[in-house]
Amino acid sequence: MIPHFIKRGIRGYAFKKRNRSVFIGPYVEVDPATTRVGKNCTINFYTKISHTDVGDYTYFSANCQVMHAIIGSFCSIGPGVKIGLGSHPINFIALSPIFYSTSKVVNNMTWVDRDYHDEFSNVRIGDNVWVGADAYIMNDVEIGEGAICAAGSVVTKNVPPYAIVGGVPARVIKYRFDEETIEQLIRLKIFKRSDEWLKENLSGAVTPEDLLRSEIALKA
Ligand SMILES: CC(C)(COP(=O)(O)OP(=O)(O)OC[C@H]1O[C@@H](n2cnc3c(N)ncnc32)[C@H](O)[C@@H]1OP(=O)(O)O)[C@@H](O)C(=O)NCCC(=O)NCCS
Repeated sequence: MIPHFIKRGIRGYAFKKRNRSVFIGPYVEVDPATTRVGKNCTINFYTKISHTDVGDYTYFSANCQVMHAIIGSFCSIGPGVKIGLGSHPINFIALSPIFYSTSKVVNNMTWVDRDYHDEFSNVRIGDNVWVGADAYIMNDVEIGEGAICAAGSVVTKNVPPYAIVGGVPARVIKYRFDEETIEQLIRLKIFKRSDEWLKENLSGAVTPEDLLRSEIALKA
């Protein structure tokens, strides 16, 4: 039997070979069978990712755990962030997965031959989202583009685009821009544009006013 650390090494090597533009720090564990990472991403040390799809230019700081998520491009994931780690059923008597899941997390054992609970519905994170240090994003939550999850927040509900949420459980603290500006930004689908366009138009201290002014001028 091949020891776990060797299997991990082989998986890490396979992932690095397939993702040459991605910076992968030491002790990172990414499951290449269940995870796709876009170009020019960064995965810092001790971070673990599985069952996840990541867009381009997104970075994960150190010590993150990410499972069952669809994450956009240009996201900033702070240190110690946990995303989509699963849930236990609260309406069954038994809370241990040995009674309801085939995942074999209890000493590689299960007492059932099928799954009775959906442990891992996907987390969906839009483009250009900032998740602060030590935030926890629960399964099935959707975070809109441009939103911020404050440091230490526990995000249990959907977060609207360009909102800032914080606390336990996380509540909207404020919006980054006014309603009309947010609607316009969403309509423009900025972060789906080409790298060249983004580099040219967003680099530096570009505010929504600057961008919307130039978009209107372009249309005139
Ligand atoms: C969310 C954040 C961006 C807010 O910044 P801000 O707009 O300057 O916010 P303010 O400091 O003006 O605070 C606004 C309100 O939010 C509250 N707040 C700020 N950070 C909070 C947090 N992490 N959790 C809960 N509430 C928070 C403030 O207490 C304040 O509440 P009040 O209006 O009742 O007084 C910032 O606090 C944060 O968490 N940044 C993440 C830092 C981080 O993790 N860095 C490393 C990873 S890359």
